[in-house]
Amino acid sequence: LSACSGEQSALAPGGEDAATIARIFWVMLWGAVVLWLAVNLAVYLARNNAPRRIGRRAANAVIIGGGVVLPLAVLTPLLIWGLAVLPDHRLPGEGLTIRVTGEQWWWRVEYLPQAGGEPVVAANEIRLPVGQRVTFELGARAVIHSLWIPALGGKMDMFPGRTTRLSLRATEPGVYRGQCAEFCGLSHAWMAFRAVAMPAADFAAWLEHEAGPAALPEGEAAMGAEVFAREGCGACHTIRGTEHAGRVGPDLTHVGSRLSLGAGRLPPSPANFADWIAEPGAFKPGVQMPGFGHLPRADLAALGTYMAGLR
Ligand code: CUA
Repeated sequence: LSACSGEQSALAPGGEDAATIARIFWVMLWGAVVLWLAVNLAVYLARNNAPRRIGRRAANAVIIGGGVVLPLAVLTPLLIWGLAVLPDHRLPGEGLTIRVTGEQWWWRVEYLPQAGGEPVVAANEIRLPVGQRVTFELGARAVIHSLWIPALGGKMDMFPGRTTRLSLRATEPGVYRGQCAEFCGLSHAWMAFRAVAMPAADFAAWLEHEAGPAALPEGEAAMGAEVFAREGCGACHTIRGTEHAGRVGPDLTHVGSRLSLGAGRLPPSPANFADWIAEPGAFKPGVQMPGFGHLPRADLAALGTYMAGLR
């Protein structure tokens, strides 16, 4: 029952494919309930009636009717119907393509422009316009991951060196939780993200802002930007609008505007950013990012303020 609602439930659909999957589930469930009741009724009648002899022909009729005809009559239409309505994850998209790459343990997210050119790079959050079928181009860096947003549709594996595709159409604006669905190592369970389905106009405005450079830091955040540069964080992270252009870790250009930090791990508050930077492994065992717990607390706090202000 606890899995029938909420932001990560295939039974609380916010998308076309998930709605179909939920419908198949409920039809199967009620069908199974009817059959279960029928079987239990048969058991009840058999136990509560005195045994009596029946002829071979009647016995054969029971075996053939209940063992062959009934399953065929129930399962054949169910199979035909199930295959007919099964969502086609290869349906062509309607313009927008989002490339998602599984990393250890986070998501590289790139919005590919329709007219060609540089993709808009983000991470650990997927935004998509409501009503439009969006194509996902999936890959992975080192091991197999799987992209799954249960409230929007089915899952699709992500392989190193191979591109898989999935298309999804959100029908309800909302924030849904996505989760890696293929065991990929120590922090597989912490490899999550938020999928935000937005009205088309809001999405267009968001994407335009996301494509822009980072906000200029002021006050404590400017101090944080100095620490960021001094400690060499830019070797792994990009902040567009600055000289930092690392590609190893997540793009941080607008990291403060994301709904979570560490791929679904923590709410993105300045204090959480500071704690994360001090000891990422405490939150995500096995993470590749080294800890910076040796920095003075004031430097960590300034970094946290800088990160949270990157909106
Ligand atoms: Cu990535 Cu499990």
